[in-house]
Amino acid sequence: LSDRKADPGHRVRVVPAICEAIKGQIRTGASGPGARLPSTRALAAEWGVSRTTVTAAYEQLLAEGYLETRQGARAQVVRGFDPHALKSIKDQQPAPAMRLSDYGQRLLDFAVPPQSDASRLVADFRYGDLAAADFPTIAWKKAINATLLHRPSRLRYDDPCGSVALREALQGYLWRARGLRCEVDQIVVVNGSQQGLDLCARLLLNPGDRVVVENPCYNLALQTFVAAGAELIPLAVDREGMRTDGLCEARLSYVTPSHQFPLGSVMSVRRRQELLAWARRTGSYVIEDDYDGEYRFDMAPIPPLQLMDSGERVIYLGTVSKTLSPTLRLGYLVVPPALSTPCSKAKRLMDRHTPSLEQEAFAAFIDSGSYERHVRRVRRRNGDRRAALLAALSEHLGNQVTVVGADAGLHVVVWLDGVPQERAHELFERAHAVGLGLYPVGSLYLPSPSVSPPHIVGLVVGYASLSERDIVHGVRRLATMLEDLQATPVRNKHLTHQPSRRGPTAG
Ligand SMILES: Cc1ncc(COP(=O)(O)O)c(C=O)c1O
Repeated sequence: LSDRKADPGHRVRVVPAICEAIKGQIRTGASGPGARLPSTRALAAEWGVSRTTVTAAYEQLLAEGYLETRQGARAQVVRGFDPHALKSIKDQQPAPAMRLSDYGQRLLDFAVPPQSDASRLVADFRYGDLAAADFPTIAWKKAINATLLHRPSRLRYDDPCGSVALREALQGYLWRARGLRCEVDQIVVVNGSQQGLDLCARLLLNPGDRVVVENPCYNLALQTFVAAGAELIPLAVDREGMRTDGLCEARLSYVTPSHQFPLGSVMSVRRRQELLAWARRTGSYVIEDDYDGEYRFDMAPIPPLQLMDSGERVIYLGTVSKTLSPTLRLGYLVVPPALSTPCSKAKRLMDRHTPSLEQEAFAAFIDSGSYERHVRRVRRRNGDRRAALLAALSEHLGNQVTVVGADAGLHVVVWLDGVPQERAHELFERAHAVGLGLYPVGSLYLPSPSVSPPHIVGLVVGYASLSERDIVHGVRRLATMLEDLQATPVRNKHLTHQPSRRGPTAG
């Protein structure tokens, strides 16, 4: 017993137990309002604990308002309250149903992919992941350390639009890397592109407003607009990017002109001009998501749409999620000057500002030249991965697949020409069973009269997190699995269609 008394952990466990026991007596009426509690000595003996432990329990109940004390007198149950109100939650009437705002209610309909454990897979082709080994740990650590050494004497909230040092560094970087010219005041540092999209939706959309989007499209952008209550106008995508002949009255348009997500086409100059003319005519804004602009392989860099915009209609969106890490949550908007102040006010309400340490470190990282050196290095590494993937697909799957969107970015779309959509479920089940992480392109299509969903299965194949060896291994396994699938009769014969050569909107 004395050992237990001396054990501080024991006290931590016993104090709540004593409190609960006394609350139980109060609840059941065994100790009514005004009832005196046993002395600390008596209760300590009863529980086999020290008096200090009992005193701690009484103090806790005093603090919670169950007990009261007077100088020199024993603690007693507080008077003037209804003990029945203390019944445990489950004894009370059921709580009223959760009531969400319209925004909250809309979120309930969104599918959220499970957080899968990539380590259990032989090859996980999940798009968006990067190889941890590619992260410039030493250079980043140096930038963080340099930032910490230059700590100001006072810790204060930063400018909601971001640290001036980072915005100046980004201004230079965007000019050098993308040919984009802007004022520092036009840059808003955000927690990844996702916050940039959310900021735009909050500032530019009212429930019922229309948003023109590419079909297929980046899911989180769609969900952001739908959550804001917008109506989506999906326009088909072909080799020239989003088709502009379907443009109609809308508040906003969201496009990925440098590398359409997911199909990979580049928006032609003609379509860019039509989109900008539409925006000027209708007073709408265009969000240009340049999510992987740093990765060009077999093509010249494509200047951003923002460069062609004389009417201040384009909001440019960039991120470090493809160059450094998606876990940093660092992104930036370049907004037309008129939007700077509303962005600053909205960002202030969202989170005051993006964490200063990471912002300053990123500024130092850019200023030292490390960022551009790193981008060149990861571009080479991902170029090698891409070459390994394309070679393996050609060697093991040859004419069974059509690959699109391989000129840029960190993913390709692989259409499985012989696999009808009706076998998709079976295919993904088999993939999982053999340790392959495969992701369908079909789920990125929106129902629309102008775009019929693909008749064959297509995969969004991300390769930036895998070694070349694992890529080749994964493709071989995919080939074997497809062979087995083709050799197995279709489970549900009456559902099968004749597969077309490829998905209808493949670029
Ligand atoms: C089209 C598109 N935009 C943006 C992003 C990056 O988002 P974030 O900067 O929020 O990580 C992705 C990531 O996969 C993407 O596919």
